[in-house]
Amino acid sequence: MIKVAPSILSADFSCLGEEIRKIEAGGADWVHIDVMDGNFVPNLTFGAPVVAKIRKVTKLFFDCHLMVEHPETYIEAFAKAGADQIVVHAEAAKHLHRCLQQIHAQGVKAGVALNPASSLSLVEEVLPDADLFLLMTVNPGFGGQKFIPTVLPKISRLRRMLQYAGLTTDIQVDGGINAETAELVAGAGATVLVAGSYVYGADDAAAAIASLKAVR
Ligand code: DX5
Ligand code: ZN
Repeated sequence: MIKVAPSILSADFSCLGEEIRKIEAGGADWVHIDVMDGNFVPNLTFGAPVVAKIRKVTKLFFDCHLMVEHPETYIEAFAKAGADQIVVHAEAAKHLHRCLQQIHAQGVKAGVALNPASSLSLVEEVLPDADLFLLMTVNPGFGGQKFIPTVLPKISRLRRMLQYAGLTTDIQVDGGINAETAELVAGAGATVLVAGSYVYGADDAAAAIASLKAVR
């Protein structure tokens, strides 16, 4: 079963509550929340206080993608604000294993993200310690970028690594996902699809979500 996680990065921030209700009504599984610090990535978005506010408008699962340096310093704040899952970049976490333990200690799910150029070897030693692996299909920082197809064999390799370890962990993809690229990533072994501009740029967000959920 494919899960769809629309990214509110492409939402209209002037009415964020309504924008979240729209995807909830449209069948979204998760809300993908892109946190950028202007340092790990060249862009700034929102912090834990915004998450705490939008927590009041929906019961949907909050998937917080931290594109920040020193992610360990933000874990508690995002967990308290209402995150259901916190995903940190392996490139930013000096002590990745400890970081995953810190996230779990807050009672939330823990994920690890990798940039397109980062090797799977960065997560090889923590395969059983994460609830999800996020393979970026664009370089993080902005919505609306073009899908990088060289990540496809990387998804297949990670799926095989997990299978070999006896794990059925979710593989999430993020960046340039639409109905066409969704087919490709799902075929390679991805199970959670993040989509920003494809969902929020559509005239009918529910139809866009349904087209992603329909891939096999
Ligand atoms: C990029 C973010 C993505 C972004 C995806 O740094 O992590 O979640 O919102 O946007 P689209 O789906 O438009 O590529
Ligand atoms: Zn993201």
